[in-house]
Amino acid sequence: MLSADLHVLRDEHVAALDPLDFDRRVGDLWRMNADADAKWLVTVLRDVTPAATDVADLGTAECLAAMRDLGMVIGSVKRHGMEPLDAVPDLEKVLIILGDRTGMVPRDTVHHYIRWNPTGPRERMYTGHRMERLLMSSVRVSLPRMSAAVDLCRQLWDISPNDLSFAVVAQELVALLRSMEDAIDIAVANVTPEFFARTMRPFFEDIRVGDRRFLGPAAAHVPLALVDMALWASDHGSPEYTKFAAESAWYGLPGWRDLFDEWVAGPSVVSRLKTAIAQANGATPPHLRAGAEAVARGLRALVAFRGKHLTMARKSYAHELRLYPLGSGGGSIDLLAEIVDVTKQNATQVRRWLDQPRRAGKRRVLCES
Ligand code: HEM
Repeated sequence: MLSADLHVLRDEHVAALDPLDFDRRVGDLWRMNADADAKWLVTVLRDVTPAATDVADLGTAECLAAMRDLGMVIGSVKRHGMEPLDAVPDLEKVLIILGDRTGMVPRDTVHHYIRWNPTGPRERMYTGHRMERLLMSSVRVSLPRMSAAVDLCRQLWDISPNDLSFAVVAQELVALLRSMEDAIDIAVANVTPEFFARTMRPFFEDIRVGDRRFLGPAAAHVPLALVDMALWASDHGSPEYTKFAAESAWYGLPGWRDLFDEWVAGPSVVSRLKTAIAQANGATPPHLRAGAEAVARGLRALVAFRGKHLTMARKSYAHELRLYPLGSGGGSIDLLAEIVDVTKQNATQVRRWLDQPRRAGKRRVLCES
């Protein structure tokens, strides 16, 4: 099966697989982490690493499950201060093959840790702590929906804002974007900044594979930055945010890097709306208005997520608490603050463009009467 077929695999199918016999061999990973038993963790990593020749016999779904399980031990070894590929050099070839076979990076990603992770007794966790489980559940609320949002942006990209289909797709998009606020509400209610900063964050540190470093399974790689590129960021974002979005797409599903390349060239959906509203010359047709209002609502939903998320991130990365200066996705608190502001500006802008012609239109009607 080609890597592009990844999209047709059911998450539950991958989650059910256990190609490295992880359930039996590594079921108590959390205990090894609690004991900070680095030597034992390296032994386990060596034991579960398959021979490169055996990886050739695995199907695509099994490759994803194998990467998921290797990733749990890799993150654990790294958390206790060792570079996993220095400790187990044979792993490098295996990771590169698994990455190639699936069209993804040669490391586990948030998709492995969340979407392809079974829930219940087989759930793979670093700590076994209830807060980790709840943090994972919060990302599970948004990750599949935001992946579906990428597909809707793909459709939106090809439709004229004057077409009724644009409004239909944009409305569906709003419902998916709202899952981000649900996700952060779960995290805020159930995960303390201390737990994130001191217990979880170290498991997401980057590792070396070949001559590059690869980040861990960060929530920052939920594909919101890619959605932003389509909606507004290609021509309204800063170079820093574009760089962050490019890197984030790299950790996504096959095809997302190509989408980034296409969308970054613009014009963004927001710019297309501006042009269409200007061309309507004060008499915005109902289809266009419906589409623009939906996009404005979608952006407002992102502002709601980002406001709460920034508060949580600021607490977790406060000087007295943090162990690292940057987030697990390689970005900073300053970057988050900037994105909140620019998302807000874009939402307000679209609303203004809609309101201005209406006022102008009303004035004209008054003059004519
Ligand atoms: C538990 C608390 C959390 C903390 C402390 C936190 C912290 C951060 C930080 C510092 C960043 C900057 C980029 C980077 O990671 O390198 C970031 C980005 C991001 N995080 Fe979180 N995060 C948390 C939970 C979540 C949750 C539950 C989600 C939901 C899926 C999420 C989604 C994102 C996204 C999409 C970004 C990219 C920037 C953006 O779109 O605004 N985070 N996070």
